[in-house]
Amino acid sequence: MSLLKLLIFHSILMLSAFIGTADGYYEYAIYECVYSTSDYSDMVNLLSYSFNKVVHTQFNSTVGKFVGFTEVGVKYAENFNEDKAYLQRMKAEVDKVCIPNAHNYDSLVRDKTVKPTVTLSSVKQAEGRHPAVLMCSAYEFYPKKIKVSWLRDGKLMTSEVTSTMEMADGDWYYQIHSELEYTPKSGEKISCVVEHASSSQPIVKDWNPSISESDRNKITIGSSGLVLGIIIAAAGLIYYKKKSSGRILVPN
Ligand SMILES: *[C@@H]1O[C@H](CO)[C@@H](O)[C@H](O)[C@H]1NC(C)=O
Repeated sequence: MSLLKLLIFHSILMLSAFIGTADGYYEYAIYECVYSTSDYSDMVNLLSYSFNKVVHTQFNSTVGKFVGFTEVGVKYAENFNEDKAYLQRMKAEVDKVCIPNAHNYDSLVRDKTVKPTVTLSSVKQAEGRHPAVLMCSAYEFYPKKIKVSWLRDGKLMTSEVTSTMEMADGDWYYQIHSELEYTPKSGEKISCVVEHASSSQPIVKDWNPSISESDRNKITIGSSGLVLGIIIAAAGLIYYKKKSSGRILVPN
């Protein structure tokens, strides 16, 4: 499980306004709840004060007090640490703020699943000695973890499979693509199997080797063009014959 960071609030304070140019000063505090387990046993509450991009003072609930990282940060930390009641409140926020919030976010987002849309298509048809290539794609799924495999008559195919990584769409969804290079045999059944948390049963797509719809469209357009060409050529030939035979009939 990856490290999750939960931003509870983000307060920003501009210390000094712009002096002529775009230069300014930027003092801000970031409050984070950091955890990577589902039972929240490693939950850490962090409060980091930064000036421009430098963190100068930080509270970490595991450490239990403020720590300064710069000269002025050390002074701030000493000051904060004198207030024992404040330190106690900060430590208590792990249970009071971080865990209840993480609980809500996890049930609303992290633990949700979205089933992939699986498509199976032909990339290359077998020609002579060259093998055929099929592509199995899974789109718009969440979470990231997924398994794509290929079966030939129910048996797992391991060689000749190349798969991409799970790719982030940038909107919490992922996609993945797997290619199978194989030599088709008649009567066999090729299937793509997708296993994902969104479905207790694997999603199975069987390859239908009959001509695909796009191929059928290409053939229709191609043959229409051919028929049209023949008609125009025939018309032209008839016209030419009539003209030339007419010319012969005209006496000089
Ligand atoms: C908090 O402090 C502990 C102990 O020093 C450290 O191991 C941990 O990495 C710190 N957490 C973060 C998120 O900085």
